[in-house]
Amino acid sequence: MSFGPPVGSPFSGPSASQSSARAGLPFAGMPSELAARAEEILAEEPEHRRPEITFSPADYDRRPFTLRRFLSPHRGALAVAVVLVVIETVAFQAGPLLIQIGLDRAIVPRQAEVLAIVAIAYVAAIAVNALAARARILFTGRLGERLMYELRIRVFSHLQRQSLDFYTDQKSGVILTRMTSDIDALAALFQDGLVNLAVQLLTLVVITIILVALNPVLAAITLLAVVPAMAALTWWFRGASERTYRHVREKIANVLADLSENLAGMRIIVANNRRRHNAIHHANVVGEHRDANVSASTVGAIYGPANEAVGVIGQAVLLLIGGRMVLDGSLTVGELFAFLLYLTAFFAPIQQLVQLYNAYQSGQAAVAKLRDLLALDPAVAEAPDASELPPIDGRIELASVGFGYDPAVPVLRDLSLVVEPGETIAVVGPTGAGKSTVAKLVTRFYDPDNGAVSIDGIDLRTVTLHSLRSQLGVVPQEPFLFNRSIRDNVAFARPDAGDEEVLAACRAVGLDDLIDRHDDGLDALVHERGSSLSSGERQLLALARAFLARPRVLVLDEATSNLDLVSESKIEAALDVVLEGRTAIIIAHRLATAMRADRIAVIEDGRLTEIGNHAELVALGGHYASMHAAWVAHT
Ligand SMILES: Nc1ncnc2c1ncn2[C@@H]1O[C@H](COP(=O)(O)OP(=O)(O)O)[C@@H](O)[C@H]1O
Ligand SMILES: [Mg+2]
Repeated sequence: MSFGPPVGSPFSGPSASQSSARAGLPFAGMPSELAARAEEILAEEPEHRRPEITFSPADYDRRPFTLRRFLSPHRGALAVAVVLVVIETVAFQAGPLLIQIGLDRAIVPRQAEVLAIVAIAYVAAIAVNALAARARILFTGRLGERLMYELRIRVFSHLQRQSLDFYTDQKSGVILTRMTSDIDALAALFQDGLVNLAVQLLTLVVITIILVALNPVLAAITLLAVVPAMAALTWWFRGASERTYRHVREKIANVLADLSENLAGMRIIVANNRRRHNAIHHANVVGEHRDANVSASTVGAIYGPANEAVGVIGQAVLLLIGGRMVLDGSLTVGELFAFLLYLTAFFAPIQQLVQLYNAYQSGQAAVAKLRDLLALDPAVAEAPDASELPPIDGRIELASVGFGYDPAVPVLRDLSLVVEPGETIAVVGPTGAGKSTVAKLVTRFYDPDNGAVSIDGIDLRTVTLHSLRSQLGVVPQEPFLFNRSIRDNVAFARPDAGDEEVLAACRAVGLDDLIDRHDDGLDALVHERGSSLSSGERQLLALARAFLARPRVLVLDEATSNLDLVSESKIEAALDVVLEGRTAIIIAHRLATAMRADRIAVIEDGRLTEIGNHAELVALGGHYASMHAAWVAHT
C-alpha cells in the first residue's frame, strides 16, 4: 500500500510510522543512521516550552468523540492543505496536456519556438507542483503531529481520570492497544491520509474532465468499458481487505495483551516454571498475527495485478480505437498520446483511493474504540459543585455503609464506625471480610452504595478529589515503586521535598541501612516495580513515602505484613513516628501491631462485630479473643 502523493512524484514512499501503523504495530523508533541526523536537526529547533496541561477530574469534553468534531478546530489548517493540494494536482496534471500541445502545435507543424515555450511551460508546471508538494507535505506533517499530540494527551489524561474499577476491569494490554495501534491508525490518517484522499479524488475529477474535453467518444468508451470492471474488482477488494484488516488488528491486540501480561508476571512465570509454556503460547499468538497479515497480503496480491491488467487491456483497446480515429483524421496524434497518458494517471488514483479507504476504515474503527474509551465516566466522579475540603482534624465516620463491587454481591453490610481525631484504630478480621474495602472507601477509591463516609462531618462525595487526597495517605500491602531513584520514590507525593527531609523520612522508618549500603545513596535506582528491593524494604519505602507526605489521616492496609519478625521492634518504632498525632486506620494481620492501637475493630463478613481496646476485646471472648489465644499459644 502507498498513501503517497500523485504517482511519479518523488515523495511517494511511505514514512516509517505509516508502515508500522499498517502492520498494526507501535512505531518502533528511528533507525540509528537517521538518529544522528535527527539530533542535528533538533539542535537547530527552538527549545520546546513546558506543556501547560489543565487537568481537572470534572472538566473535560463529554461530547462523543468523532473525527469531524476532533478536526473541526483545525478547519482553517485543513483548508490551507486542500488549497495546496489543488495547486499541486492541477500543476501535475498539466503535463500530458502540454505534451499534446507540443506534439500537435509544435512537432507536427514543425514550430521550434512553440516547442521551446511548451518545454519551458512544462518545467514551470512541474516546478510549481514540486513547490506546492513540499509546502503541503511540511504543512500536513506538522498538522498531523499536532493532532496526534492533542489526542495522545487527551487519552492519557482520560486514563488518569478514571477511577480504580476501570483498571480492575480492563486488561492493561487492551488499554495499551488504544494508545498504540489505535492511535497509530489515526496517525496514518492525520499525517497524510485525509489530505491524500482529497488529492486522489481531485485527480480523478480533473482527469475525467480533461478526458471528456479531449475526446467525448473515447472518454465514454473508457468510462463504460474500463471503469465498471475496475469498480467490480475494487468493490471485492474493499470488502475482503476490510475483513482481513480487522482480523489483523484483533490479532495484534492479542499480541500486545499477552506481551504485557508476561512482562508484568515474569516473576510468577519463572517461579512456576512456565517460561517454556508461555513461549509456546506467545508463539501461537504471534503466529495468528502472522497468518492474518499473510492473508491480508494475499488479497492485495490479487487486487494489484488484476487492476493493472484491466488498465493495460483498456489502454490496448483505446490504442486500437483511438489509433483508427487518428488514421481517419478525427483525432490528432497529440490528443491520442495525451489520452493514453491521462488514462494511466486515471487508474492510479482509483487504486490509491481503495487503499486510503481502508486506512479511513481502520481510522474510523480506532475512532469508535477511542470514542467508547473517552465516553467512560469515572465511577468515582467529582461532583460539579464540589468544594475544597478545609484542613481537617481527622474525624472519620462510616455511617451505615453498604457496598459491593458488584451491587448484587454485598461486601460491606450496614457498617458503622467512628475514628476520633488522632486515634489509631486497628482493623482485624478473616481474609475476604472486607477490611481492604473499608480502606478503599475511606480514601474514596469507591463510593458506598448505602450510607455515607465522612471526614469531620463532611461527606467525601461533596469535596474535590484533590483536596481530599492531599490530606490522606494510603500505604497498600503491595506498594508500587517507580523505576526512579530512592529519593524520587520517597518524595513521590511531595516532589518539592529537600534531601534532608527525604533522608529524615528514610531514617524514621529505618531505611537508612539500605541507603548507606548503596554508593549512590538517595540516588540509587529502584528497579521496575521495586524488583531490586526485598518486599520488606519496599514496604519501608512506602512508609517513608507516607511519612514524608505528612497527611492528617493515614490508612495502612497490611502495610507491615512483609516485615520479618527481627525488625518487628524497629517497625513498631517506625509506626510510632509515622502515626504520631494522626488519625490512623491500620489494617493489621499482625496481632502485635493491632494490640498497640487505641481501639480494635473486628470485621467479619462485611459487618463490624467487635470494637474496643485490647483488654476489652480479650475479655469479650469473641473472635479477637480467640485470635489472641491462638497467638499466645504460638509464641
Ligand atoms: N475489585 C474487586 N472487584 C470485585 N470484588 C472484589 C474486589 N476487591 C475485593 N473484592 C471482593 O470483596 C471481598 C472483600 O475483599 P477485601 O476487602 O479485599 O478483603 P480483606 O478483608 O481480605 O481485605 C472479597 O470477597 C473480595 O473477593
Ligand atoms: Mg485486604
